[in-house]
Parts: sequence; C-alpha cells; structure tokens
Amino acid sequence: MKFTNRTILIVGGTSGIGLGLAHRFAKDGNTVIVGGRNPETRDGLETVRIDVTDPASILRARDEVIAAHADLDVVVTMSGVLLTEDLRDPAHITDAENMVATNLLGTIRVIDAFTPHLINRGAGTIITVSSGIAFLPFPLMATYGATKAAVHSYTESLRAHLKGTGVEVAELVPPAVATPAMAKLNPAAVPVEEYLDEVMELLAVEPRPQEIVVKAALPLRWAERDGTYAELLERRSAPLDNLPGR
Ligand SMILES: NC(=O)c1ccc[n+]([C@@H]2O[C@H](COP(=O)([O-])OP(=O)(O)OC[C@H]3O[C@@H](n4cnc5c(N)ncnc54)[C@H](OP(=O)(O)O)[C@@H]3O)[C@@H](O)[C@H]2O)c1
Repeated sequence: MKFTNRTILIVGGTSGIGLGLAHRFAKDGNTVIVGGRNPETRDGLETVRIDVTDPASILRARDEVIAAHADLDVVVTMSGVLLTEDLRDPAHITDAENMVATNLLGTIRVIDAFTPHLINRGAGTIITVSSGIAFLPFPLMATYGATKAAVHSYTESLRAHLKGTGVEVAELVPPAVATPAMAKLNPAAVPVEEYLDEVMELLAVEPRPQEIVVKAALPLRWAERDGTYAELLERRSAPLDNLPGR
C-alpha cells in the first residue's frame, strides 16, 4: 500500500537516496523528517540532528521527534558509510570500525530507540537499508558488505520479534545507485531518480514485499540461487588488481 498520511523519519535522509526518498514521501502527502549529522535545512523538509554512532544523540533525536510528532509511524534506517579497503593493509581497521559503528550498530540503536514507541502505537513500519552487496560481496568494500549482510540478517530477526505487534518490517536492497558516494566508484550505477521510481512502485505493492529489490539488484540478490555466485564474485574481485602493490 502506498505510504500516504504517514509521519516518516528518515535517519540518514540528509543526502543521497534518503533525501530523494524523503521528497518522494513528502510529495505523496506524508509528513517527513530527515535526520543526519548535518541537518541544515533540506529543501523545506523538517530536519533533526542525529549521529547514529552516539547513543546519547540518538535518544535526544528520538525525544525531539516524538515530542513534535506523537503520530510518528515510519522509521527508515538509511544512515550508511561506504568505504573501500585494502585488507592487506591493517590500517583499514579505522574505516572498518567506522562502518560497523554506523551501518550496523547505528541501525540497531536507531531501531531500539523507536521500537517501544511503534509497539505502543500498535502499528507502524520500520524500513532498514541493506544492499545487493549483502548477498554478493564486492571485495573492495569488504567491511561495508559485511555490515550490510548483517543488516539483512538482523532485519529478518527483527521481523520475527515484531510479529503480532502491528509493526511491519521492510528492507530496501539497493543496487549501485549513483549518489555522490557511489557514482565515483561505479560509473554503471543506476541514476537516483530511476531507482526511486522503482522503489516507490514496489513499496506500493500489496501486500508490501518484505524486500524492496529493484531490477538492477535482482542478479545480486539471487546469485546464489541462480548458480552465478562464483562467476560474479570473481568478476567483482577484479578491481583488487588496481590496488597499490598488487
Ligand atoms: N548508493 C549506493 O549505491 C547504495 C547501494 C546500496 C546501499 N546503499 C545504502 O543506502 C544508504 C544511503 O546511501 P547513499 O548512497 O545515499 O549515501 P550518502 O549520500 O552518503 O548518504 C548517507 C546518509 O547517511 C548519513 N550518515 C552518515 N553517517 C551518519 C552518522 N554517523 N549519523 C547519522 N547519519 C549518518 C548522512 O548524513 P550526514 O552526513 O548528515 O550525517 C547521509 O544522510 C546507505 O545506508 C548505503 O549503505 C547505497
């Protein structure tokens, strides 16, 4: 069912896919709040300052949003850091820690902050954001892929925990989408608006799919089932040859 007349918080909605999604939801008649560490006014959207690596910041943001919007009923955990790594260089650990703290622990903490509110309302939606990489690694982004595989697994467990509460759980599984973060890494990335067109269509399907997988993400999502995993993984490992010293 199309989201309309809902109150939607997109944590990680201050740029990229999250900001684009926020505009789509606002256009469909929803109240939308976008959150991030840099919440300067975003084209007329309401904003909240939140750093998902800081538990106190998450709770402050939660209290601020719920005080202003007691009817908040959709939370999107979009915050993410996408970094490449060279696993032969132990210095990568700093980036790895950052990605685990933001992409995985940040997701878990934001969900924890809002779940009691949604359960009390007896209705609502949590939308997590994994990636095609969760299902087929891109070895240059090793920890990133690991965090997204973890987000997928966590989402499946969360759905089981929330069964019967009225809170639904959906997962966005984006392919490479040409946000500034990704466009420089992958020239073949799907244009943001094209991606969002398909996402909005899939979100409106009834009953809503548990995973929102656009066409470009299908080969990644189903590589293992389709028997293409080994071949695609080898192809996706080729960029490692361009790392210094290889
Ligand atoms: N683009 C792709 O190809 C692609 C593919 C698969 C999955 N995804 C996922 O989609 C999501 C959005 O990606 P994007 O490409 O749109 O990236 P982006 O433009 O860099 O957006 C990332 C968002 O995360 C927020 N963020 C980062 N660190 C944060 C922190 N510590 N606390 C709170 N917010 C934080 C940023 O806001 P502030 O800077 O204001 O904090 C921003 O709003 C990510 O989860 C990403 O992993 C993207």
